[in-house]
Amino acid sequence: MPIEVNEQGWVLTTHRTAYAFGINQAGLLTHRYWGVRLPRLDDYPVAPSYAEKVSFYEPLTLTPEEYPPYGGARFVDPCLKVSFADGVRDVVLRFESFDVREGDVPELLIHLRDTFYPFRVTLHYRVHAAYDLVERLVTVQNDGDTPITLERIWSAQWHLPAHENYRLMHVTGRWYDEMYLRREPLVQGIKVLESRRLTTSHHHNPWFAVDDGSARESSGAVYFGLLAWSGNWKLSAEMTDFGSTRVNIGLNDWDFAWRLAPGDTFATPSSFAGYSDGGFGRASRSLHDFIRDTILPHRPVVHKVLYNSWEATEFAVDERSQIELARHAAKMGIELFVLDDGWFHGRNDDTAGLGDWWPDERKFPHGLGTLIAQVNALGMDFGLWVEPEMVNPNSDLYRTHPDWGIHFPTRARTTARNQLILNFGRTDVQEYIIAQLNRLLSENRIAFIKWDMNRNVSEPGWPDAPGDPRELWVRHVEGLYHVWSTLRERHPDVIWQSCSGGGGRADLAILRLADQVWVSDNTDAAARLAIQEGYSHIFPANTMEAWVTDVGRERLSLAFRFHVSMCGSLGVGGHLLHWTPEQRTEAAHWIALYKEIRHIIQFGDQYRLRSPQEHPFSAVQYVSKDRSEGVLFAFRTHMPPPAPVGPLYLRGLDPEAQYEIEGLDGIRSGLAWMHVGLQLVLKDFDSTVRRIWRR
Ligand code: GLA
Repeated sequence: MPIEVNEQGWVLTTHRTAYAFGINQAGLLTHRYWGVRLPRLDDYPVAPSYAEKVSFYEPLTLTPEEYPPYGGARFVDPCLKVSFADGVRDVVLRFESFDVREGDVPELLIHLRDTFYPFRVTLHYRVHAAYDLVERLVTVQNDGDTPITLERIWSAQWHLPAHENYRLMHVTGRWYDEMYLRREPLVQGIKVLESRRLTTSHHHNPWFAVDDGSARESSGAVYFGLLAWSGNWKLSAEMTDFGSTRVNIGLNDWDFAWRLAPGDTFATPSSFAGYSDGGFGRASRSLHDFIRDTILPHRPVVHKVLYNSWEATEFAVDERSQIELARHAAKMGIELFVLDDGWFHGRNDDTAGLGDWWPDERKFPHGLGTLIAQVNALGMDFGLWVEPEMVNPNSDLYRTHPDWGIHFPTRARTTARNQLILNFGRTDVQEYIIAQLNRLLSENRIAFIKWDMNRNVSEPGWPDAPGDPRELWVRHVEGLYHVWSTLRERHPDVIWQSCSGGGGRADLAILRLADQVWVSDNTDAAARLAIQEGYSHIFPANTMEAWVTDVGRERLSLAFRFHVSMCGSLGVGGHLLHWTPEQRTEAAHWIALYKEIRHIIQFGDQYRLRSPQEHPFSAVQYVSKDRSEGVLFAFRTHMPPPAPVGPLYLRGLDPEAQYEIEGLDGIRSGLAWMHVGLQLVLKDFDSTVRRIWRR
């Protein structure tokens, strides 16, 4: 039973783990346990209670509450902060009742209510047993007749067992340089990670992994989690001076307020978290399986090898240039041809056109139809780039509706890349964009859309906002979800890609809409190794679109560039007309090989054998779910000689079964490949791909 209840409280059990909480003697909803699943309900500790011994050791500060509000003598970072209409800003929550909802994903609802104000808080816990994940979110309701202002409302506080030397792993980066893994000790105080950019951001991702400093890729205890949200978010990892460590995660309270009118409810996004006793590798494989099986819109779909013409033709697109590229692409085995920026009304460079989503009459006098027909005749699907939340001041849309942009009326509107952001919180804006894109999708055979977002917000104003203008941060993102999901419903076969100047919008909420993510605008394969590794801690390889381009070709062979991109959902983005016939033939070879192995990469288990962020000789392995086949990629960038490199120890094989590895002599047991390992020799900027077969 995934949700068990006894007099000590509730225990949520997954395949390998358990999460327990209960009501302590003071009536507070208190955390009890999170870790490996225990045999008996009585094995789980009781909810701890604290009496005042010293006035400065407040029981409310000492108690590991599941969802502490701001109120009383509590000095931990609270999850909830509200102002009532009479100016009181103190919340006192009492447990009222609980419900269990059975189903594929069983849910426990804990109903809390303020002791004085008609304000209800419901904590939702959903158990994803097969993936060892617990999902949490919170809904609140105003049952009174005066408004309540929400000033902070996080999704969860995740408590870790008492330990003094926790280490937080997270990712940092910037445009063109995303997803660097950082590990840092959690000491007394609060470590904050956040986005204030209206989008998930290149700089941090709402994901964490915490261990006691001893976990490795394939061993040790790791607590990990994330927030499914594509707007401003905040993670606050607090270690108190009383030895308690907790990770809060939710909507960012920076510049945030939400007016909860009488009768209104508000729901937070979901946070998902899990415990792995198999190191960072198992933690990410849990997330990969979960995302592939339950989050992605087109679940078991094999991603096609695509060609994107952006780096070849940039804004200089027309029917002729695209067809020339498409002919070469088709001959190489490409399955999907994507026309990027530059195709729509008035778009010759980045100064104009955004907002006017119809084909440029000069570049495409017959519309997109003839180009699409030719691409289809070559045996490929057709895909298109859009950036729907954006508007150039130089566009018909902006000239007609200057008030649709996010702005403060008394301030200049800062442009970035010459563009402004449309306020997707407004229903008129949502309807306009839905109509524009719906027409495009209805009139043309479009199989794939790349949805981009190329700037972050400034002057976040909303004149005439229906509620508090600071609701923009949430309403814009909800509007985005509404527009995108409406289009998805009307065009269910279209595959969408999420892009925000590369990896600026990669998160679990966007993956409910998009099957693929453009991980970085940096397509240098050596740099990409590191970016792809960081990404792999959170997201599965099938979501990771990776193109082979001309960047770095002076030092990186075509094979190296292909091998790097084959670790995800393969694409090509180089200027094919500049490639020699031999290069195009070689590309066709790698594409054909990729098609043979992509089911292992896209749907198998991923094992990071040696980190490219830590070592210039790195390796990653994928194993099919039935362990009958695998594929190993190894890469060497620059290593000063002599360059001693230890063996690579494979992972994930059936220890009893016999395996052969391409290019290596002998058939050995899975156990041997995993414990004796194998030695590969590579020169600088060399790489290899080896198939693995069970014999
Ligand atoms: C962003 C994307 C690129 C490309 C350009 C087009 O930078 O990340 O891949 O689509 O926009 O303007």
